This record gives sequence, structure tokens and C-alpha cells, in this order.
Amino acid sequence: MDKLIIEGGHPLNGSIRISGAKNAALPLMAATILAPGQHVLHNVPDLRDTRTMLLLLESFGITWQRRKKDNALLIDATNLDNFEASYDLVKTMRASVLVLGPLLARMGAARVSLPGGCAIGARPIDFHMQGLGRLGVELNLDQGYVEGRAEGGLQGGDVVFDIPSVTGTENILMAATLARGVTVIKNAAREPEIGNLVDMLNGMGAKIEGRGSDRLVIRGVDELHATEARVIPDRIETGTYLIAVAAVGGELTLTHCNPDHLASPLDKLRAIGLEIEKGDDQIKVARNGGLKSVDIKTMPYPGFPTDLQAQIMALMCISRGLSVITETIFENRFMHVAELKRMGADIKIDAKSAIVKGEAELSGAQVMATDLRASASLVIAGLAAAGETHISRVYHLDRGYDDLAGKLNRVGAVIRRIEE
Ligand code: UD1
Repeated sequence: MDKLIIEGGHPLNGSIRISGAKNAALPLMAATILAPGQHVLHNVPDLRDTRTMLLLLESFGITWQRRKKDNALLIDATNLDNFEASYDLVKTMRASVLVLGPLLARMGAARVSLPGGCAIGARPIDFHMQGLGRLGVELNLDQGYVEGRAEGGLQGGDVVFDIPSVTGTENILMAATLARGVTVIKNAAREPEIGNLVDMLNGMGAKIEGRGSDRLVIRGVDELHATEARVIPDRIETGTYLIAVAAVGGELTLTHCNPDHLASPLDKLRAIGLEIEKGDDQIKVARNGGLKSVDIKTMPYPGFPTDLQAQIMALMCISRGLSVITETIFENRFMHVAELKRMGADIKIDAKSAIVKGEAELSGAQVMATDLRASASLVIAGLAAAGETHISRVYHLDRGYDDLAGKLNRVGAVIRRIEE
């Protein structure tokens, strides 16, 4: 297992190219299951999670290759001869559940291992199952697997989410494209990654209205065809680098990103004291003065993303004043707190909130990453801390960040990756 050794205190200057979004690439890749032929996906980041999704697709009989010259992913879903997603793959990535909807739509059957617990909470898939039930799927649990069958195909229906679920919305969307009749998803999640999926599905011949809203209407069609689609820029990667420059200082230009997808984090970062200039597909950010603490409450999009909560908490540790960070999406997403405290942070947890007292003098320590975004938070703390920070279990970062250490090193950070 690799670890990162970060020498703190080096400001970041230069430009970083933002990669395609992990959370958009995964549903787009799963959507290829819906139609035979060769799909072309552009801007797919090469991450541990996207590799896991390729292994899943392979296990269904789908073939793929990366086209070097323009870094496209060619996925040929003509052959589909298996509908079981094994525990071995699903346990390494919860988002594997995204294959459930498309498998049911194309094959009328699916057997997908239940993901089990994960570091940031129970994260059940009951919404996915209830929604698919509304589309006429008969679901059973068998030896840790969800088995779905829709003899005679799926049937459109009304699906109402208790709380908006991102992958739940994506699963129902994909399933409904090939269902008979009309499906209406109410209280749908509105994350930009869902808009990306809607565009791809409509490009495949689906009939979906309501893109970007919490009400999606899907008119089922008889068949879909292969298509070409582009993964949107990763807003969480973008936000992570914005917060990194805030923490350690300097001036960065983030290119190939979409500033419109970061309205809430950009507002917060301005209030904290950063200078931010938005272009069409780039953001210039500079820290020239001190940092002021702000309160943060995570919310579904367009609110402040839970996937940036851990990173902004690292920043609040060194800002002036008190910050109350409230996590409303996941019940157990403060695993980074204990590690930040080992680096000198002053944080107290009170139910769903973390109360962060600012102006801590962070110092390097040996810390352990517990999940993907918690790891990013420790990297940010390490960049700002005095001395060396050793972060073990780097595989969490590899799941979702494209060459994080390399990108940071090219703008002035000093990070080494070694085998433990
Ligand atoms: C997606 C993102 C993840 C992000 C999260 C919230 C992907 C691959 N992952 O995860 O990075 O942190 O959105 O923005 O896109 N819930 C249930 N039952 C369900 C489904 C969800 O109770 O069947 C609850 C969850 O526990 C959570 C809330 O609903 O409290 C929202 O979760 P959801 O939007 O489904 O998260 P994911 O789609 O798993």
C-alpha cells in the first residue's frame, strides 16, 4: 500500500487542468449497457473507480478500449451475456449499483450484490429498489444479492424520492428509458452529473424532459442506439484545488472546469477571503489576505456539496474565528475530524455539526485516510501544516482523484509517494 509524504508550507502557483468527473463518468459508462453498438465516451478520468466500472462491464460481456490519440473510451455493448455484478467488484465501489437499472432495462433481469456498509454511513439502496418496484420489477434478496426480474419488460410509473438520491435518480432514469409508457420522477436529484446522463440518454434516442429540474419525465422507447458523449468537468476536484490554494496560499488557474457548477462553494470561498475570477471554463483564484471562518451546511445540489465538506473543514481549522459545519446528507461523515485533530486542529462534534475553532497551528503527523474526500482533506491540511505529513491508505485518493500528487507538485507542492 502506498503512502503520501507531504512537506507543508509551499504555496501553489500556476495552472491545473481539471479532469472529467468521476461521478458523471460512472453513470455514463453504466448507460452503455442500454444499447448495442460502439459508444464513444470522452474525458473519462483514469481512476480506480472508473477501472472498477470497466471490470464490471467486462464481466457482462462488454468490450472496451482506450483510444490513445484523443484519450477516448470506446465501449462496445453489442454482446451482453451475463447480468450478475459480483460481490468482489461491488464491495470496492458502491456506485456499482448503477448497473442495476440498465441491466433490468436491456435484459429484463439483474443480480447485483448489495454494497454493504461504508465508511461514511449506512447508505442503503432502498430508494433504488422502491423506484424499480414502481416500474414493475420484482425484487428479491438472495444471499446478499438483489435479484430483479421484469418478465415482459419494464412498465412506466411514478417514482417519488423521500430525499433526492443522486445514483437513485440515475438508476431510475436509465431503467425508464426502455420501459413501456411514461415514468415521472418527482423530487429527483438535480446534480449536474444527472444532466450529463440525461444528455447522453437523449443522444441514444431516449425521450427525457425536465433536465436540471426535480421533475423528470421519461417517455419509454422500444430501443436505444450507441452514442458519443463527453463527461463534464469534475466540480469536486475543482473545489478541492480551490480550497488547497486557500489553505497554503498562492495563485492558481484551474482550466477545463465549469464554474457554473460551483456557485455555492465559490460564494463561500469569496466570503472566506479568496479573490476569484470566473471565465467560461476556467477559474482564477488567489489568496492575498487572511482567511475568515464561515459556517457551512451541506445540501443537495445546488447547495454546498457534502463531497467538499471534509476539505473545507481543513481550511476552517486555520481560518480566523469559529465555524459550524453541519452535515445533512450523510450521518457519519466526520471521520476526518480525529485525524485533523492529530495535526493540531481544534474541533468538537455536536450531533450533525462540527464546531471548528480557527487559527490552529497545524503540524505534520502520521494520519490515515478513511474515505475518498477525508483523504483529500488530510492532503489540504498537510499542504498547510508545518513539517511532514504522512498519509497512509492512499488507495482512497486513487479512487477519485486523477493524479492528485502529480498535479499539485507541478504547481509547487512537495509531495512524495512511496510504497509502505
Ligand atoms: C452520490 C455521489 C457521492 C455524493 C452523494 C451525495 C456518485 C457515484 N456518488 O452518492 O459522491 O456524496 O451522491 O451528493 O454519484 N439514501 C437512502 N436510500 C437510498 C439512497 C440514498 O436512504 O436508497 C440516502 C443516503 O444515505 C443519503 C442520501 O439519501 O443520506 C443521499 O444519498 P445519495 O444521493 O443516494 O448518494 P449516492 O447516490 O450514493
